[in-house]
Amino acid sequence: MTVKFSTIAIVGTGAMGRGIAQIAAQAGSTVYLLDAQEGAAQKAASAIVAQWDKLVEKGRLDPAQRDVYATHLCPVEALSALKGCDLVVEAIVEKLDVKRQLFKDLEDIVSPEAVLATNTSSLSVTAIGAGLRHPGRFAGFHFFNPVPLMKVVEVVAGFKTEAAVCDRLREYARQMGHSAVLAQDTPGFIVNHAGRGYGTEALRIVGEGVADFATIDRILKDQAGFKLGPFELMDLTALDVSHPVMESIYRQYYDEPRFRPSVITAQRLAAGALGRKTGEGFYRYADGAAAVPDEPAAPAVDTLPPVWVPPRATRRAELLRLVHTLGGQLETGAAPSSQALVVVAPLGFDITTVAAVERLDATRTVGIDMLVDDAATKRRVLATNPATRRDMRDAAHALFARDGKAVSVIRDSGGFVTQRVLATIVNIATDICQQRICTPADLETAVTLGLGYPRGPLAMGDLYGPTNMLEVLFNMQTVYGDPRYRPSPWLRRRGALGLSLRHEEE
Ligand code: NAI
Repeated sequence: MTVKFSTIAIVGTGAMGRGIAQIAAQAGSTVYLLDAQEGAAQKAASAIVAQWDKLVEKGRLDPAQRDVYATHLCPVEALSALKGCDLVVEAIVEKLDVKRQLFKDLEDIVSPEAVLATNTSSLSVTAIGAGLRHPGRFAGFHFFNPVPLMKVVEVVAGFKTEAAVCDRLREYARQMGHSAVLAQDTPGFIVNHAGRGYGTEALRIVGEGVADFATIDRILKDQAGFKLGPFELMDLTALDVSHPVMESIYRQYYDEPRFRPSVITAQRLAAGALGRKTGEGFYRYADGAAAVPDEPAAPAVDTLPPVWVPPRATRRAELLRLVHTLGGQLETGAAPSSQALVVVAPLGFDITTVAAVERLDATRTVGIDMLVDDAATKRRVLATNPATRRDMRDAAHALFARDGKAVSVIRDSGGFVTQRVLATIVNIATDICQQRICTPADLETAVTLGLGYPRGPLAMGDLYGPTNMLEVLFNMQTVYGDPRYRPSPWLRRRGALGLSLRHEEE
């Protein structure tokens, strides 16, 4: 196999440049390294060799192979040394004018056939390449940190980028052991765009006083299988990185409500509570470990009231079986008795709306999130409404915790926690498909590898039901009257027709 680009250059040898240089050298390319800071390229080459040394120590790399790789690295001190390169990847400071100047200078040096690429994560590829004499050979090549471990790269097609250039970059990425996805040049490309739902919706839930950070993290990990809760994730990324990204994507999409950032992160950023790296974020950290508040124990209740479930509950048959299995006494009448605990299971609606519309006694009404199959979840989530009596709340908590499964009790919220976060993620993802920013398959690859979600957002939507996702959003729009819950046309149509969210039209 001959490598797609035999001689390449990396300009800017910081964290990203080094990572890209490492995998390019491993793929067999000769890699020139150049940095504006004197001696930085040489230092980067040494750092990359030190990475290979570590792999040799761990027995994961042959010493002879390391020596061959090392010969592929050529630190240089002047742009003119890049004359013979057939690809230049830029990973310098994130400033439009500085990047544009670099590519202008490069065009005077490399041949007109050489491919020029930027690793920008937040600037427009089209804008960076706009001043070039040959903009067709210019593309985005967006890697993630740390490059050798994050095995996905977005190949970004600017307005004038030739398709053949994207094809070559995709093939080259594969030779480097990465999955390449093709994105149209739009704010956040794929990964940073698709990633907007998780944190912002969790922040809205906190902002409504529905539940605290730790409860929301527990729910999303236990019910939906996320490795990290949204607040744990923001603590890891640090708010000085993630809040500006939230603002930037929101503004670049001309204040699209789906991406609206939160005042919570703005304030915390101002206070310097950035996350792990400052020892204080949504959690406090001591010696690298987060202090996680204990969960409230299930209350002890001597006698449980009988339970009545209305006919329109989600997964009603399963819910009835569950109550029965837990030893609850079910009422079968058309209406609840005056003692009954009423358990509703809405999609998207809050408990208050269900109680009001179905003429239920709100003081005895509690909700349970039945979107996820009970057998498939490690946690049950109950919600009260403002009128729910304490004894009824405690009875519901005690009943659903009887088999030892974790239970969270939250305040009233359209869509509980899992429904609204999943529906938001699925909505943004399907909007990406609707805009044809990338193919559904590339979206799934980009999100699983770039964000580490348990599955792609379209697969998530399919798993929990496209029609359910649509229903959650429709009803949340009614509850909140907020355009951020407006379903994308892609979800609207596939959800209404019961089609897979991965379905593309003929
Ligand atoms: P960094 O600050 O670690 O490294 C940047 C390097 O570029 C420095 O060594 C600096 O001396 C050099 N440099 C600055 N201006 C230069 C110029 N005009 N010519 C030559 N060298 C120059 O930055 P990092 O994190 O490696 O990011 C670089 C680029 O990669 C940015 O565009 C950033 O947006 C993008 N990126 C960063 C990611 C990250 O997680 N850090 C992820 C994906 C993309």
